[in-house]
Amino acid sequence: MANNILQGKRGIIFGALNEQSIAWKVALRAHEEGAKFVLSNAPIAMRMGEINDLAAITGSQVVPADASSVEDLDNLVEQSMEILGGKIDFVLHSIGMSPNVRKGKHYTESDYKFYQQTMDVSAISLHKTLASLYKKEALNEWASVVALTYIAAQRIFPDYNDMADAKSLLESITRSFGYHYGIKNKVRVNTISQSPTPTTAGQGVKGFAEFINFSEQMSPLGNAPATACADYCIAMFSDLTRYVTMQNLFHDGGFSNTGVTRNVIDMFGEK
Ligand SMILES: NC(=O)c1ccc[n+]([C@@H]2O[C@H](COP(=O)([O-])OP(=O)(O)OC[C@H]3O[C@@H](n4cnc5c(N)ncnc54)[C@H](O)[C@@H]3O)[C@@H](O)[C@H]2O)c1
Repeated sequence: MANNILQGKRGIIFGALNEQSIAWKVALRAHEEGAKFVLSNAPIAMRMGEINDLAAITGSQVVPADASSVEDLDNLVEQSMEILGGKIDFVLHSIGMSPNVRKGKHYTESDYKFYQQTMDVSAISLHKTLASLYKKEALNEWASVVALTYIAAQRIFPDYNDMADAKSLLESITRSFGYHYGIKNKVRVNTISQSPTPTTAGQGVKGFAEFINFSEQMSPLGNAPATACADYCIAMFSDLTRYVTMQNLFHDGGFSNTGVTRNVIDMFGEK
């Protein structure tokens, strides 16, 4: 169902690793809606090569950038404006990585070098991206920047580990930069807090298989799939949501406002 609601818009989409990636689905939907965009990912992720398939399907170019490198981001912003022929209207930040999670470190025994990498790649990268766009005056008025987050920023989900701290910081950067960019150029910045989703990053979290089932039972509408998340991102990039900024928007089938569901209570049986 395409309505051309992104016709004439130019974007940058970070984080499409493979077909499961949320960013991959966003790129397909943005293409359907008439947008032109540049795809970016860490140079190391390019080795898999799958992003080139997505570039071919969507008629996009790929510009590698390590999202923790200001130099790479500056280059990406400049190249994107050149390739797309003008200033940018939307950006998707769909980036997450925790060496502590990867190496199975318990939260209470975090490796602090890893911890800093988690913050840098998963959260400060949003600040660096926005700062690069800001100093190069690369965003049009009413441009929309969306970063993906998870409810562990507000509530404890023990196995989410230091990614929870990174998501809290990501959401705070969204509010702070959203203020400054709104004043400067009417640019909006929001996070979408997505249900657990079976992707490479999602499945890296310990106990993911059990957890996604729990979340399904705790959400009145069920878990939101990646394709629905892509639809929400497209709505946020469009002109139909122009006065939404500095928000954390839950896209989770109602999970965030649910104390308990009948299905979950029934699992505990009668005393
Ligand atoms: N999958 C879930 O359950 C879930 C739920 C809520 C939010 N999210 C968030 O959605 C976003 C996308 O994740 P996904 O689930 O699609 O998984 P994914 O593994 O497909 O995407 C994560 C991306 O981050 C990229 N990345 C890692 N380090 C990078 C770096 N240094 N520079 C640039 N890119 C780098 C990876 O290459 C990958 O493309 C992440 O922010 C994640 O935390 C995921």
